[in-house]
Amino acid sequence: MSDIQFEIDGRQVKAKEETTLLEAARGAGIAIPTLCHHEKLEPFGGCRLCIVEVEERGRSRLVVSCVFPVKNGIIVRTRSEKIDRIRKTIIELLMAHAPDSPQLAALAEEYGADRDRFEKDPSFCIHCGLCVRYCAEVARKHALGFVDRGIRKEICFIPEIAAEVCDDCKECFPLCPTSYLQAAYVLTKALAFPGGGKEPGAQEPKSVASKK
Ligand code: SF4
Ligand code: FES
Repeated sequence: MSDIQFEIDGRQVKAKEETTLLEAARGAGIAIPTLCHHEKLEPFGGCRLCIVEVEERGRSRLVVSCVFPVKNGIIVRTRSEKIDRIRKTIIELLMAHAPDSPQLAALAEEYGADRDRFEKDPSFCIHCGLCVRYCAEVARKHALGFVDRGIRKEICFIPEIAAEVCDDCKECFPLCPTSYLQAAYVLTKALAFPGGGKEPGAQEPKSVASKK
């Protein structure tokens, strides 16, 4: 694969074809904030926090850096008044859902976000999808999924699978930027397989979706 050359924050950078802007920036020591990215997972482009500005043939546009591939000759800006303002709003919106997330609190401090700007609607899950995707793509256990759509969307442990595999795994727990994942697991376990699932004589798992 040939190298692609472009400019990022005033520096000339080379990267392999099909590298994303996020990977190229990080490779060059330039930090871009992310909430739904994980290096072992397929790019997702869900949280939009990693937006950057790309100038190509004299025209500028905002792109999501974790899914946007590098291109020859583009000029990339990872911070500007406009980018910071958008990131600040994204953080403020997410804080209405997960006001106690330490990751969001750190980002709020960096971007001067007001945690009380939007009315609180604590659902705690910010739909980053890290848990669901990690369980499917890396752990390959498929014990988690999303149910419903839009604002009603929520993660759900699949009791029949979770009862068999989750207690010995829990690799997804540290990925959650809020504490919702652990809480959802504890609730699912209490409701669907209180005996631990794998224990002899444990109750049959009952179907249950995680509840807010
Ligand atoms: S439970 Fe946590 S890791 Fe899973 S989608 Fe919600 S915020 Fe992301
Ligand atoms: S990290 Fe790029 S959209 Fe979430």
